[in-house]
Amino acid sequence: MMRRAVVKGVGHYLPERVVPNAEFEATLDTTDEWIKARSGIERRHFAADDQHTSDLATEAAKAALAMAGMQGSDIDAIILATSTSDLTFPSAATMVQHNIGNSTGYAFDVQAVCAGFVYALANANALIASGQADRVMVIGAETFSRIMDWTDRSTCVLFGDGAGAVILEAEDGTGANTDRGILSTDLNSDGRYKDLLYVDGGVSTQNTGMLRMEGKEVFRHAVEKLAKTAETALEKVGLGADDVTWVVPHQANIRIIQSTAKKLGVGMERVIVTVQDHGNTSAASIPLALSVGVQNGQIKQGDLVVTEAIGGGLAWGSVVIRW
Ligand code: UT7
Repeated sequence: MMRRAVVKGVGHYLPERVVPNAEFEATLDTTDEWIKARSGIERRHFAADDQHTSDLATEAAKAALAMAGMQGSDIDAIILATSTSDLTFPSAATMVQHNIGNSTGYAFDVQAVCAGFVYALANANALIASGQADRVMVIGAETFSRIMDWTDRSTCVLFGDGAGAVILEAEDGTGANTDRGILSTDLNSDGRYKDLLYVDGGVSTQNTGMLRMEGKEVFRHAVEKLAKTAETALEKVGLGADDVTWVVPHQANIRIIQSTAKKLGVGMERVIVTVQDHGNTSAASIPLALSVGVQNGQIKQGDLVVTEAIGGGLAWGSVVIRW
């Protein structure tokens, strides 16, 4: 017997305002064609001025609770992956905890940038496997529109705002890779690459800062590292590409998604793609894609789902889930 973290609900929220690529043509030396061709992005959502990351996260959390048929008070732990928390402290997770009517569990944020959701899932799995929690809500939520340099065409056209949430519950499995739930995780980071993607400010440096990225270099690392981490996670439980029903990648660039799928040996018909509609929502991109995939009837119970992500740090990883 083995305790498994099984998905019971998933939900997402996107702010109302949709910004098509063409809107950037008025203020930047760019075109809809360039953005589409180089990134696959066609539009993204931006939060309203009075909407903060915890507001987006709360809506996603409520949608996931509804699907799971649970109340906020049923949750033991809330882990929120974000790099754009409302305040320096307390965590956005505690704000969500209050908003969903939970005062008995514990809540905290995880910061691993675009790999944040994969990191949070792995930590949720560890809490459940070790008996420290029975029901864990894992959220990815971001307002990257707040850290964009609107004069830098090489970054500001790529990112968007949004939130997604997943609820995991402990169930007894057999220990075999046919069990439902999280089957394996693979996490990595390498701070030698911290200057490839970062925000040039923070609490300790006394300004909020803006996102800076060496796009080409990050692209190169992504193509090299994503397929490898997914393969490693699959190998840990004796699975391979042929067993995969869905790859749910971090949605940064369609060209990265395609080359990773090719390296893995998984056809694009088995990859969930939302980058055209959401842009890069950092830690929110995978739970958004999971929720859209379930909503569209693509991801079904029993499917083998492989998530993979890379971002600032560099930090990267993969989680294999039997849905
Ligand atoms: O989520 C975290 C992980 N992040 C990523 O995975 C992002 C990884 N990187 C990428 O997705 C791509 O590198 C980008 C989409 C950022 C850029 O695509 P690229 O094919 O690597 O283009 P590039 O940076 O080599 O730029 C090509 C040209 C440059 O002009 P020159 O130097 O060749 O004259 C850029 O100045 O395109 C220019 N350019 C633009 N042109 C029109 C850069 N941004 C734009 C723009 N519109 N928005």
